[in-house]
Amino acid sequence: MGEHNKATAMTHKTTRTRASGKGVGNDESFVASPCLHFPRGWEIAERDATAEHVFLARRDFVRALGCGSLAGAGLAAGWLASACSQETLAKQKRQDLDPAQRAWQGLYPAKRNKTYKGERPLTKEEDVLTYNNFYEFGSHKSISRAAQKMQLEPWSIEIGGKVSKPRTVSFDEILHAMPLEQRVLRHRCVEAWAMTVPWSGFALKALVAYAKPLSSARYITFETRADKDAMPGLRQTYYPWPYTEVVTIEEGLNELAFVATGAYGKPVAKQNGAPLRLLLPWKYGFKSIKSIVRISFTERRPKSFWEKIAPSEYGFWANVNPEVPHPRWSQAKEKLLGSGEKVPTQLYNGYGEFVASLYADKKQNRTLFM
Ligand code: MTE
Repeated sequence: MGEHNKATAMTHKTTRTRASGKGVGNDESFVASPCLHFPRGWEIAERDATAEHVFLARRDFVRALGCGSLAGAGLAAGWLASACSQETLAKQKRQDLDPAQRAWQGLYPAKRNKTYKGERPLTKEEDVLTYNNFYEFGSHKSISRAAQKMQLEPWSIEIGGKVSKPRTVSFDEILHAMPLEQRVLRHRCVEAWAMTVPWSGFALKALVAYAKPLSSARYITFETRADKDAMPGLRQTYYPWPYTEVVTIEEGLNELAFVATGAYGKPVAKQNGAPLRLLLPWKYGFKSIKSIVRISFTERRPKSFWEKIAPSEYGFWANVNPEVPHPRWSQAKEKLLGSGEKVPTQLYNGYGEFVASLYADKKQNRTLFM
């Protein structure tokens, strides 16, 4: 409660202009929220968003031929110039990768799993790289530069709790043990913005199998690195660091639950949760915890970061439902990052065919969707 009050007092200043625009503006009701500002970032015209097939085909095409051999393929000069300049740009971006990321670069993009279609234009990479929620680096969206301070090597992951053998493994070991694939997934932030991203990584259930939980394990908790030197947000001591998130074991074994290690054909960027982050596309985005260093299996359910701060706003289940409003704004629509287009939100973010059965025996009340 004390933390909540402190966070409330502090965020009065910063949360006012935020969110979906609806149900926001009551000065008295603002509390700490993963949805603080609605800044720049939307202003790109929809025509500039990348069509999924164009992005995916371009990478395969350019990779297969290389810019030098495109001429021999007898392609139109305009196409050639455009393909080559995009490849040059991609190379420049690659040079921005740090040494650890450069070592992983060859793994991406992983082979595409076509079960997962974004069904929307891909969000421009630039937007995904520059409009972020990563409170460890600050409670605003422009943390991408600050996040570059995070060191990716060494990076180890502690696997503990109800497992047959608790152990600490390097990220590199996990990366090379997992079956990598590419999935295009929609992401829906509780703040009512959304993006569609070609992620590479592996099914969470592969990591669960690797961890060997005991049959008594019912929940999986994930924890983000907390590095005071690299992460200025940790100085805000009223937040209950480290950032943690929790899912049931059944959710963790669902085929849609994914661990991303890459995006847009490269190792995942630091601001997006390098070197590995969770993706639970049917839940609000705050469940998709970044930069994981600890995974533990428990019989009882621990409280997660946002649940400790504001349980009536950011609950345990947090399944997307357009008909259950956030206490301070509607969840009926979402804004596409980049274009700013508003589209209707879908139950379970449109992934009901994969996950609705997980909740069939549960009371279908607000708790499931908060
Ligand atoms: N993980 C950590 N450790 N810290 C955070 O602040 N923010 C969450 C989630 N994971 C967050 C986090 C929220 S609210 C969202 S919407 C997504 O990350 C944003 O991911 P992106 O910045 O890659 O778009």
